[in-house]
Amino acid sequence: MKVEYVPWVSSIAITNGRVMTCAGQGLGMIERGSVVIEGGRVEWVGEGAVPERFAHHHTIDAKGALVTPGLIDCHTHAVFAGDRGAEFELRAAGRTYQEIQAAGGGINATLGPTRAALADGTIENILVTRVGAMLAGGTTTIEVKTGYALTTAGELGLLDTIARAAQRVPVRLVPTLLAHLVPPDRRADRDTFVDEICDQWIPGAAARGASAVDVWCEDAAFTLAETRRILAAAGKAGLAVRGHVGQLSDVGGAEVFAEHRARSVDHLEYVNDAAIAALARAGTVAVMLPGACVQLRLPPPPVAKLRGAGVAMAVATDLNPGTSWSEQLPMQMWLATTHFAMTVEEAWLGVTRQAATALGLGDAGVLAPGARGDCVVWKCDRPVDVCYRMGNSLVAYAIAGGSVHVG
Ligand code: NIG
Ligand code: FE
Repeated sequence: MKVEYVPWVSSIAITNGRVMTCAGQGLGMIERGSVVIEGGRVEWVGEGAVPERFAHHHTIDAKGALVTPGLIDCHTHAVFAGDRGAEFELRAAGRTYQEIQAAGGGINATLGPTRAALADGTIENILVTRVGAMLAGGTTTIEVKTGYALTTAGELGLLDTIARAAQRVPVRLVPTLLAHLVPPDRRADRDTFVDEICDQWIPGAAARGASAVDVWCEDAAFTLAETRRILAAAGKAGLAVRGHVGQLSDVGGAEVFAEHRARSVDHLEYVNDAAIAALARAGTVAVMLPGACVQLRLPPPPVAKLRGAGVAMAVATDLNPGTSWSEQLPMQMWLATTHFAMTVEEAWLGVTRQAATALGLGDAGVLAPGARGDCVVWKCDRPVDVCYRMGNSLVAYAIAGGSVHVG
């Protein structure tokens, strides 16, 4: 694909679009409308042509195509080095994620390459390149979790890497500190390791402007008691919390995250009815990660129950080298609407408005005045096409913060 940036356009109008605002009720469709972006922000959205009073220097004629907010990938582990293709082959031959992790693979196998890429400084370019691939798929906001260094200096170094990369890309990067796992060399003193997370990582993350603290709550990662300690420390530091919850088993994590009014709980293949009710009461978003679910051959999460209880659902890639090396949200939208039986509207809101809620962002996921100037012009004219056409590249233009990427 030809990749081309027009780095900064002070003002741009997209005309003749089937504009899906995702604002208000449902998808907020405007059958024939226009969008004006000024100085990196949405200035005007409405029916028909651009009113005379809005001068604009560039025009994209959408010719009736679908125009949507830029997509938000609210759950990624995009800052990693190396790959785990050999594990993929083992799983294809019938081994489970847990067996591979117990044998020293899994997250532990990504620590070495990531630490090395941090040490030699190559990690930043790896992330910048990956962000470019994600923008080509229509993603204009990316949450990026740490979690593949698992030392104090390394985790804070990954946050610094994300901050530096963010200066080089038009896409908005939202950093999250992830307590991912207790690495093998810290299992003997895991209490001290959790102390370090609480007393050093979390204050360091707060000082660096991290958006949230995430914990993988699972017997194979952090126990419920350890998770509680980490969530308490995050609360003390004034950071929002999110969780990897119920991916491999239900250890009671969802209730604990609901108690802490988590922004989101993610995965949820295994979650009980009482926990679903608690999530609804807490206003916590359930982030659906169908790529990881399918790849690990797990049962789909209870989407109908979440919907019935009124829990908002987001959809994300979970981009990581172990369970879901996916850079493209449309592929996840296809999986969400087929394997997870989410509606097309839920899939769209899941990568826009609900994803913004999961990240605590008030100015993204909608096309409305004041929102960041993030927008996608598609090579199709119906919302269903992006779900239906199985992740095929349908991006004509991805506009991030007023900067135009041509698909
Ligand atoms: O979201 N569940 C924990 N973390 C990742 C897997 C990371 C890895 O295997 O490297 C996930 O699926
Ligand atoms: Fe994840």
